[in-house]
Amino acid sequence: MMPRYTVASARPDDLTHLPAIELAAARLLAGVAPDSVLNETTSLDVLQKAQREGHLWVALANDVPVGFAQVEAIERGGVHLEEIDVHPEYGRRGLGTQLVLHVCEWAVRKGYRRVTLTTFRDVSWNMPFYARLGFAVVPPAQLSQALRAVVEDEARRGLDPSRRVVMARPSTRACLPSSNRTGTHFGGAGPDSQ
Ligand SMILES: CC(C)(COP(=O)(O)OP(=O)(O)OC[C@H]1O[C@@H](n2cnc3c(N)ncnc32)[C@H](O)[C@@H]1OP(=O)(O)O)[C@@H](O)C(=O)NCCC(=O)NCCS
Repeated sequence: MMPRYTVASARPDDLTHLPAIELAAARLLAGVAPDSVLNETTSLDVLQKAQREGHLWVALANDVPVGFAQVEAIERGGVHLEEIDVHPEYGRRGLGTQLVLHVCEWAVRKGYRRVTLTTFRDVSWNMPFYARLGFAVVPPAQLSQALRAVVEDEARRGLDPSRRVVMARPSTRACLPSSNRTGTHFGGAGPDSQ
């Protein structure tokens, strides 16, 4: 039977599922990012803090986490999508899209001016995926100090800056797609239907 998919704020009990999702999703980037980065997981401390602050959401299949998104308020008026992962067994069912839209809707409600992220320029489910969701490239000359620090940290961790791109989406209601604005419950093909 098709699972019931939802996106919701993470509960404390969801956190133990997240490192395995992050590691499995990272395999999609094998050969693109160095293994040291692919084997990194967000620490439990960071996840717990994000959960407490309401900066962590999960995509659930029948109430079990199969994806998550985490943001950080890195600059005044701006929130950064620090991590987004969907377990490949549940990929391409719209869960990544729903997580991004959920974060953007939340950012509008909270009054953030923009949502930012860094991603790979040349991976089809990275820059083009976010561009379809309303994100635009921020040229290097226009990077804020906080975003420059994010890019520098990535380079120190071994990510080639020439392949990375910073993107931003203005946080206005007009930017959100008219359908599925709340993104709480939605349909989609289940893993057994492919
Ligand atoms: C990026 C990610 C979160 C997307 O999650 P998802 O649930 O698969 O996303 P969606 O189902 O909403 O996919 C939307 C579109 O992205 C593209 N896409 C997603 N996964 C893809 C893949 N493996 N290959 C090619 N295109 C892909 C497709 O265009 C897809 O639409 P389509 O299925 O109608 O063609 C997921 O692929 C992931 O966890 N990737 C590994 C980690 C990562 O890349 N994180 C982002 C770094 S910034």
